[in-house]
Amino acid sequence: MPQTRLDKFISERGEFTRSRIKELASKGHIRVNNIIVKKADTKIDPERDTVEVLGNIIKPDRFKYLLLNKPDGYVCSTDEHDGPTVMELIPPEWRTKNLFPAGRLDKDSLGALLITDDGELAHRMLSPKKHIPKIYIVKLANPFQSKYIDLFANGITLLDGYQCLPAKVCNVESSEKLAFIEINEGKYHQVKRMFAAAGNHVEVLMRVSVGGVVLPEKLAIGQCMELLHKDVENLFVPHDFNAFCSEFSGVFSAILINI
Ligand code: URA
Repeated sequence: MPQTRLDKFISERGEFTRSRIKELASKGHIRVNNIIVKKADTKIDPERDTVEVLGNIIKPDRFKYLLLNKPDGYVCSTDEHDGPTVMELIPPEWRTKNLFPAGRLDKDSLGALLITDDGELAHRMLSPKKHIPKIYIVKLANPFQSKYIDLFANGITLLDGYQCLPAKVCNVESSEKLAFIEINEGKYHQVKRMFAAAGNHVEVLMRVSVGGVVLPEKLAIGQCMELLHKDVENLFVPHDFNAFCSEFSGVFSAILINI
């Protein structure tokens, strides 16, 4: 691993701000290879050096976590025989051989997709017991109807007879055809089939959050960014759905309205 600054290495792992790290270093609370280091901008090699803060070892990254804003036309697969895959969109400097998409979006769906080489995290994320909620914004063919709120809250029955788990939905005030929906499971074409069962049709679907990880406004469609450790832990700290809708309806409706 290339050399990096001590304060950058520690702060990216979550608990301490750079100013706190500077303070701790000056007081002799940071050690590198068991030697006190008082300058927070000291260069270290995270793969070789052992860093301790207040007596606790800070673990180096073992895995890579990428967040892709998936565009239309790419499949969530590592097998190039399936067609253009999301793996092609990873910048070359981040490609490692064990990366895979943790979760699925349809070929024509957009939005937040985690790509990682951490199999254990993917397993935790996708486990039905964990119920990581996912929020989507949809553009509908016909206006949103308030009856969807109860229909989805009660677990709508799809046209094939499957009864969905309770889900939350709310319309976007600025547009009668835009809505947010939060689901806790991931059946095939689930959101599209839920709106179909309610008599509507999803024209565009974008995933805007996975647990507590929100698709950043600045991450353009087709672009990838690296997630920090603390962001990854946010996967398991979901948002309150209504607060999310109020906070993000402006941002995401502006994106969807132009698609
Ligand atoms: N629901 C769908 O219908 N499609 C997706 O891609 C994700 C959720």
